[in-house]
Amino acid sequence: MTKHWQDQVAWITGAGSGIGRALAIELGRQGAIVAVSGRRQQRLEEVAREVEAAGGRALAVPCDVTEESDVVIASSSIVRELGRLDLAIANAGFSVAGAVRDLSAEDWRRQLDTNVIGAAMTARHALPHLERTQGRIALVGSVSALLPTPRMAAYTASKYALRAIGQTLSIELDGTGVSCTLVHPGFVESEIAQVDNQGRHDPARVDKRPKNLMWPADRAAREMLRAIRARKREHVFTGHGKLGAALGQHAPGIAHFVMTRGAAKRQAAAVTKNASSSSNDR
Ligand SMILES: NC(=O)c1ccc[n+]([C@@H]2O[C@H](COP(=O)([O-])OP(=O)(O)OC[C@H]3O[C@@H](n4cnc5c(N)ncnc54)[C@H](OP(=O)(O)O)[C@@H]3O)[C@@H](O)[C@H]2O)c1
Repeated sequence: MTKHWQDQVAWITGAGSGIGRALAIELGRQGAIVAVSGRRQQRLEEVAREVEAAGGRALAVPCDVTEESDVVIASSSIVRELGRLDLAIANAGFSVAGAVRDLSAEDWRRQLDTNVIGAAMTARHALPHLERTQGRIALVGSVSALLPTPRMAAYTASKYALRAIGQTLSIELDGTGVSCTLVHPGFVESEIAQVDNQGRHDPARVDKRPKNLMWPADRAAREMLRAIRARKREHVFTGHGKLGAALGQHAPGIAHFVMTRGAAKRQAAAVTKNASSSSNDR
């Protein structure tokens, strides 16, 4: 195996599970030294052990990306401990679900705080270190940044905003030697569906996403790292994700038609369910 990331220092936020964990392990396999961040320290230590078992070196650096002071301390302690920074992946995120008419201002703030401001602060405090190494920054967006999805307005808005940050950053970084890659995954196996609107992991929640359309996280990690290594500005993946993104971008009328048919079906199913439970109550 070619070790593309040999001795490179990488920092991944949201690395305690899902895509972030898979990125950390894959970077470890490819020889990197990986700093893993998130809020749950025990998860970070487990992932750090997995990175080391895969052949890399790892450092668990707890950090809540919604606290700028945490991000400042994390980025500077990584460089102090590991000597440099070559790659920062702003991956931490979760999804607030619910129709626009039901979401509170607090729901919106929580969503944007993590997915938008948290990622912007990760980029802000990683960049001075990346400029020294002509390194790479990656922002983990979503196909939702390209295709609006009903009951997901807060998440969709957060990923649209993240896309705007990445596109702007790519222009601002021109000539510095640092690249910014926006990666937009379709469905990937992870714990995202088990996280509630408060951002808390609840293992009892059922992942209702279509299993047949979902990529394993290790495959997603390899795909993402290829795009980041090639310094691509933007990369969409999973076949289904590419189709959704193309519809959202180039055929918004068809995307609207498909999405409204889905919403109508869900509404009809909910009405039928309510009707049958109220007739059972009688
Ligand atoms: N899985 C998919 O199908 C999919 C598709 C498109 C995009 N994405 C994006 O991929 C990224 C990773 O998500 P995932 O699917 O791998 O979900 P996941 O398994 O739930 O991982 C998300 C990670 O983010 C961390 N996190 C959440 N809030 C944080 C905060 N304030 N500060 C630091 N870390 C925080 C969580 O750890 P702690 O709770 O310990 O902090 C968790 O380990 C997200 O940005 C998501 O929007 C996922």
